[in-house]
Amino acid sequence: MSITDTLQVRVKSITWEADGILSFELCPMPPRKELPAFTAGAHVDVHLPNGVLRSYSLLNSQDERQRYVIGVNKDAQSRGGSRYMHETLRAGDTLTIGLPRNNFPLDEAAPLSVFIAGGIGITPLRSMIRRMQALGKPWRLHYAARTRQGAAFVDALQVLRDESGAEVQFSFDREPGGRMLDIPGIVTALPPGAHVYCCGPLPMLDAFEAATKTLPPPQVHVEYFAARESAATDGGFTVELAKTGRSVFVEPGHTILDCLEGIGIEPPYSCREGICGTCEVRVLGGTPDHRDLVLSAAEKAENTRMMICCSGAKSSKLVLDL
Ligand code: FES
Repeated sequence: MSITDTLQVRVKSITWEADGILSFELCPMPPRKELPAFTAGAHVDVHLPNGVLRSYSLLNSQDERQRYVIGVNKDAQSRGGSRYMHETLRAGDTLTIGLPRNNFPLDEAAPLSVFIAGGIGITPLRSMIRRMQALGKPWRLHYAARTRQGAAFVDALQVLRDESGAEVQFSFDREPGGRMLDIPGIVTALPPGAHVYCCGPLPMLDAFEAATKTLPPPQVHVEYFAARESAATDGGFTVELAKTGRSVFVEPGHTILDCLEGIGIEPPYSCREGICGTCEVRVLGGTPDHRDLVLSAAEKAENTRMMICCSGAKSSKLVLDL
């Protein structure tokens, strides 16, 4: 496996946050006294000892350099990531993590920031709210979960609401009288210029994208936890590597990343699903078939960058800056 820069951290504490949700406080290991800086909305890749790699959003304040805090929902369908975190990892253990990366940045200049969270999707928004609070900027939160017991940070958010006067709406749809969040209604009520952020399960993101279609794209921000579409594996094109002059033919059934690994080249990657941005490569020629959730529609249209773990080619040849 090829990975980007990593560092060792110690699990200082593990905290129960809600039914099925634990938070993990990760601290630097000597001689390092501080952790690399991050910005609200960032995530880190966690390289688990069982060989599984998972990305988790940082939920603490970006002003803190002595720790990262991540929240992990125990997924019933876990393939070894969240189950390992919940059942095997202990306080005192060491972990390898990647440097923080931010594909979900906060626009700190917005006149109002409106956050829409579904379940564990609250984690990056928690850090964003802390940031807006620190800057003294206005924000609102709409937070949906099935039940109050399964919703992390509710008490802390209620305290924050009372202290700040910010509008915080909870929606627990599996509780008596509970209703789903009215995402179209929330979007319709946005004042001009407001930025709106959404992180949650795919049905919520679908509703959000439908509701925000007519808003200016720079004001709309989405974070995905899982791929929306399958990788481009039709193959049948050639990839030329500009730095070495080597070429590789991408056979049907394979991604560009697969084929590069097949000839001994190991570009950085993490999720292999088009959601983390680690495998981004500059495109010098040809037309990619974009399948990732990292680049915006405008960035995809430029065809100057692509994620080689999931995107393919619409042209018979791609020239990559590799
Ligand atoms: S490895 Fe995550 S986007 Fe390609």
